[in-house]
Amino acid sequence: MKYFRKNIESAKSYEPGFQPSFAKATEGRPKEADIIKLNTNENPYPPSPKVLKALAEIKDEQLRRYPDPLGNAFREAAAEVNGVQPENIMCCNGGDELLRMALQAFCDENRPVAYPVPTYSLYPVLAKLQNCRAIEIPFDKEFNLPAKLAGTGAALTIVCNPNAPSGTFINVEELASLADELAGVLLIDEAYVDFAERECTSLVKDFDNVIILRSMSKGYSLAGVRFGYAIAQPGLITGLLKVKDSYNVDTVAIALATAAIKDREYFNECVKKVKAERIRLTEKLRDLGFDVPDSFANFILAKCKNKKAAEVHEKLTQRNIYVRYFNYPKLKDKLRISIGTEEQDNKLISALKEILAEPG
Ligand SMILES: Cc1ncc(COP(=O)(O)O)c(C=O)c1O
Repeated sequence: MKYFRKNIESAKSYEPGFQPSFAKATEGRPKEADIIKLNTNENPYPPSPKVLKALAEIKDEQLRRYPDPLGNAFREAAAEVNGVQPENIMCCNGGDELLRMALQAFCDENRPVAYPVPTYSLYPVLAKLQNCRAIEIPFDKEFNLPAKLAGTGAALTIVCNPNAPSGTFINVEELASLADELAGVLLIDEAYVDFAERECTSLVKDFDNVIILRSMSKGYSLAGVRFGYAIAQPGLITGLLKVKDSYNVDTVAIALATAAIKDREYFNECVKKVKAERIRLTEKLRDLGFDVPDSFANFILAKCKNKKAAEVHEKLTQRNIYVRYFNYPKLKDKLRISIGTEEQDNKLISALKEILAEPG
């Protein structure tokens, strides 16, 4: 079409993981209860009961009016949880919105973005939309921080930590050194940090070029609400607010995300269950012959040794078990599997046993 900017015309859309419950009825949709969905890293447990209570308490007047443009109730709650000030927090419509805003704020034709690969496949899509160069620096086999990342001259460097889809973790000290060396901004994508042992909030105090991305979709079971936030020094937050939609987070989302982040007990319990199940599933998959690095996220990356990953993926899908397959370099022989409940993961393991035993 002649109407679009050239970079939009040639851009490919981000491909989200398949959402079977929303697939067209004509596609022979299986019953929700029969689906085991381990393909988009949602939390297998429901959100806190306090979230549902907050939803029930929403008044019609709150819906009639525009929301608080800054989501101050959430900022205050998130500041307390993270040991920072509300001025260090900016609410966003999912962590994805923060990534888009960061590209818009820092990058253009002459100001590239850099990140190690393989990583979250949204980064190159956003770079293309912003018409900026994406400098992709390959990880080594162990997913260590590439030394070259410090020298790219990029206006924005993104490090996903824990990294998706590897689940691996880079030490806070290494990221502090990177922040120190970079001339531009370092965005640390901590969408999965709730399942790791450490996080990088302390860097915000020491560096004026660090932005931490957080998501309410994973640790807090609110993927359907679309809520995330940034932690950074007030100078960066003030600049980012200029590219934010006036009302980027709605009244219902603010209320639910605030209730979720305040319920520490429920959050800690859920995270503990996911971590315990991660250890169990990792061991079961290793017993079946998969290569699985230790994961610090709510998913694992399993390398198939005896069968093609694409084939295993297809056969699992036929059994209504959805996991993620990326037809990308370094990922073609692997499956990314979200941590489910014990029951879901047992069904996955049984199906894998059958598939691996099939001839061919
Ligand atoms: C690495 C990474 N960053 C950020 C996000 C954004 O999450 P959300 O927009 O749901 O908060 C995701 C979502 O899957 C992700 O995998």
